[in-house]
Amino acid sequence: MSESWMKHDVDFLGGRRLRRSRATAWSRAMVRETTLTPADLIWPLFVIDGHNERTAIRSMPGVERLSIDLLVVAAREARDAGIPALALFPNTPDQLRSEDAEEAYNPDNLMCRALAAIKSAVPEIGLIADVALDEYSSDGQDGLVRDGVILNDETIEVMVRSALVQAAAGADIIAPSDMMDGRVGAIRAALDGQGFAATQIMSYAAKYASCFYGPFREAVGSGSRLKGDKLTYQMDFANSDEALREIAQDLEEGADSVMIKPGLPYLDIVRRARDAFNVPIYAYQVSGEYAMIELASAAGAFDRSAAMLESLWAFKRAGSSGVLSYFALDAARLLGK
Ligand code: PBG
Repeated sequence: MSESWMKHDVDFLGGRRLRRSRATAWSRAMVRETTLTPADLIWPLFVIDGHNERTAIRSMPGVERLSIDLLVVAAREARDAGIPALALFPNTPDQLRSEDAEEAYNPDNLMCRALAAIKSAVPEIGLIADVALDEYSSDGQDGLVRDGVILNDETIEVMVRSALVQAAAGADIIAPSDMMDGRVGAIRAALDGQGFAATQIMSYAAKYASCFYGPFREAVGSGSRLKGDKLTYQMDFANSDEALREIAQDLEEGADSVMIKPGLPYLDIVRRARDAFNVPIYAYQVSGEYAMIELASAAGAFDRSAAMLESLWAFKRAGSSGVLSYFALDAARLLGK
């Protein structure tokens, strides 16, 4: 290498060498822009009836539906790993599903019993209750259906009743995941009117109609029932400005925090939301994203733990306040070490 070439190279860089700060572990730690800790993780769990029951979900290897007694054990593990909150989803027994989804507001439904059991056994952990009708209706849609049309305002009435029994059972955060117009305001007013002013609302504000929910629908038993699609209420994945309108509207109606969903393919929305709104913003690494990472690592494509942490960290870098992830317990344990 001639001296003149060296000189040229150094002049060109003008002393700017970004690799300097990457050269050692201590320096990388010092300049790291974002953190990922167990407190960033929310763990979604599926509930089934029975005692000491756990059932596998074919398309989500490693995730099981748990009966309430086992759910309480999982809640203790989550608390001990530093996870702040759980998100619960019931797999309602078939005979209790109906066209009008009445089970959604049965104060003794699976969801309410699960909320109450965890609240009394593990009061330190936050409980997020999903509110949508697909977990209770016979047709797998998130709203009431008449002549093939998803009814907006009638659905909200059922959701309000559902949110109230959940709050009474011990839900700390009500999370409407249905995308009906106006549900946040209606739920907020009802909670305030019934003595639940302290109960938060985390709205699934920008929720896209996505194929990545497939494994979840198997988990809660709504997938095989679903006729048609959810395109008339969940968002078109071609849109981005519209997500900001959805978020703005939910905040105006009283949402304490908002969620964007799915996760990794929608990090551009997380970033836009973070730049536009100074509120807690969560993202959901959904069932299909979990399945992709799990199946690819099982096939030897990459290391599971590395993929898990890299994918979760990406949410933080994009600006999320936290992530709902089926990896939450494993990731929290890795991070806690
Ligand atoms: C129900 C609901 C869904 C998810 C969360 N709540 C499915 C859907 O809207 O069809 C998806 C979560 C996941 O895929 O992990 N309204």
